[in-house]
Amino acid sequence: MDQMWQVATTAWEPAAIVGNGNKFMIGNGYLGYRGTLDEFTAEDYVAVNLLGLYDQHGDAWREPVNAPNPFFTQVQVAGQPVGVKTTPVLAHRQWLDLKQAVHHRKTTFDVGGAQLTVASARFASGADDHLLAQRVTLTCDQALTITLTSAIDLNVWDINGPHLTPVTTTATGASLQTGEGDTVQIHTHIAGLSGGRQVTTPTLLGTKWTLSLQPGVPVAFEKMALITTSHDVGQPVFPPDYATALQAHSQAWQRRWARSDVVITGDEAAQQALRYSIYQLLLLAPHHLEMSIPARGLSGQTYKGAVFWDTEMFMLPFFNYTDPQVASKLLHYRIKTLPAARAKAQRYGYDGAFYAWESQEDGRDGVSDYNVTDVFSGRPMRTYFGDKQIHISGDIALALWRSYQQTGDEALLTDGAAVIVESAKFYYSYSYWKPDKKRFELLDVLGPDEYHERVNNNAYTNKLAQETAKLALTAMARLATVDPQAYAAVCAQTDYPQWQARIEAFAAQLKVPTPAAKTHLIAQFDDYFGLEDVLVPAVRERLLKPNEYWGGAYGVAADTQVIKQADVVFMLQLFAQDYTIETLAANWRYYEPRTEHGSSLSASVYALLATQIGASDWAYPYFMKSATVDLTGETKQFAGGVYIGGTHPAANAGAWQAVVQGFCGLTDDHGKPQVHARLPQEWTQVSFCLQQRGQWYRALVTQKTATLTPIADPAQEEDHGHA
Ligand code: BGC
Repeated sequence: MDQMWQVATTAWEPAAIVGNGNKFMIGNGYLGYRGTLDEFTAEDYVAVNLLGLYDQHGDAWREPVNAPNPFFTQVQVAGQPVGVKTTPVLAHRQWLDLKQAVHHRKTTFDVGGAQLTVASARFASGADDHLLAQRVTLTCDQALTITLTSAIDLNVWDINGPHLTPVTTTATGASLQTGEGDTVQIHTHIAGLSGGRQVTTPTLLGTKWTLSLQPGVPVAFEKMALITTSHDVGQPVFPPDYATALQAHSQAWQRRWARSDVVITGDEAAQQALRYSIYQLLLLAPHHLEMSIPARGLSGQTYKGAVFWDTEMFMLPFFNYTDPQVASKLLHYRIKTLPAARAKAQRYGYDGAFYAWESQEDGRDGVSDYNVTDVFSGRPMRTYFGDKQIHISGDIALALWRSYQQTGDEALLTDGAAVIVESAKFYYSYSYWKPDKKRFELLDVLGPDEYHERVNNNAYTNKLAQETAKLALTAMARLATVDPQAYAAVCAQTDYPQWQARIEAFAAQLKVPTPAAKTHLIAQFDDYFGLEDVLVPAVRERLLKPNEYWGGAYGVAADTQVIKQADVVFMLQLFAQDYTIETLAANWRYYEPRTEHGSSLSASVYALLATQIGASDWAYPYFMKSATVDLTGETKQFAGGVYIGGTHPAANAGAWQAVVQGFCGLTDDHGKPQVHARLPQEWTQVSFCLQQRGQWYRALVTQKTATLTPIADPAQEEDHGHA
């Protein structure tokens, strides 16, 4: 198979269990199944992570629920379990077929001199959200008697569980209940093997066979599982067989790839990493409900399975251009959770909408005031992500408006205007009027760089707040023209007529970042340049323990100019048209050596701004860092003692942005797409599809040329090809 469509490993090491579980994920937006091996159990981080179903166990953090694992497969020879952890391995290969979205493994074991090969394939159906399918084949080079168990494993990996209590169980299924009263149902069906004994232990539900393997004669079975929850409507049914299910699944993925693949000529490493990044995004896209994508995707319960600004600021452009229906679901999730954002603002004593920093299904904030642990004392540390990271509301407002501009989807204006107005009201009420300076200021905030807490006038935050106020005025003016009835409704809902003058004053008189005349530098916040001026390696050397938290009251970075992630650079990237090239370049150069890139969100922003400056050679390593984040697994696994591992969809999407919006210069000119050639030197060509306002285009960018050709929906073309 084409290496560009495959991600594989032939090494088997215990230390790679967690990383491979992330790397070899399959999923369909409804659920994610970690890339673990068939014989693995909860202690090996097996998880079937469900989107949008959360539960709180005791006083622990509320987190998403993992369904039982339908595919636990155990082979025993002479009473001994066969598996990579216990049996000598002669050959091993685990791989993802990215085109078909199928996970494979093939391992040959030495069992007392006989060579036993276990091969399996599995997928999370792209055609039916509830369906998981698995095919297992066993082959031996000599006659061998084995026992084979295929079971639902009820013992799931939880960070803060357990969440599920069995209500009813049979050998082929179970109904379970969460502590919050939701239910999860699982039904399985096996074909290919008959007979067998039922296995029903408190944690395993399945069948066990004793089989006599003959040399070279494969024995295979196929298993399908349907998973549903009390949030679902309708009852899915089993497809007739694995082959039929696989066909429907691969056709769905073919359509998705037809719309979203990006073909890079001249750089295989970049091609593979980007395609893998797109694969990760496709497996997360929610098609079934208005919900958004958690910061660690569906790879587990890290970050409480919560939705962050990661979606709006990083993932949304990919979906807007390749699957606007999914983009609309992501945005409507924020529209739907406006009441929770209003409640949060009220709780802190403000007007308007203050969105959750770590948003769960109904918009409640999963954030804890003590989000990290002090590794020296083991005590929880007070962090201010939830109460001070106010840029979140502006991120959402900006994303809503830019998506509206790009897609022309009027529902985003009629349904989203209230979000923008309420966010503007929030910033006004958060601000202070400084009579001596005749301006508004935003004091005591946390910008994107989380290492400097409670700062004043963070450049990113203030610019976003000002933009939100401007957008509220623009959105309402437009709504009044295009839909007077909706305008009246939003006025009634937000009290806009009373607020309009205040929002106007705020937009006109808020302190916004300005570059210094000589240096062109913008201070990340008031007095930033007064902090100790050291670079990242020097600060890293000051660490006493590897998992020490760099921020907080006495973190190593807190009193220095070293920052966690793109902050001023992000602001400049988003609003590049408001600044000169000198300002963009000077700040990129200044902040880059002071940025730890301690968040996977950072690298792609540096890549994008570099392309905007016209420095694609600066951009390239940051693009690659972003695109390979889940391939190499070189990211922080712990922050202040807390596990933060998993997949990184914002970085995956940032890699896409770096290529499509960066190197290929895709921009939106009032609803019309444009491309500009700024490819890295070794690349000869990039081609991809995109849609804007219902029209599909093929973009073709070379070193010197950039063209867009209107085309029919590539997914339908794909269908015709199969007709
Ligand atoms: C970053 C945030 C990000 C979150 C989830 C944190 O480490 O600082 O900006 O939203 O991770 O990805």
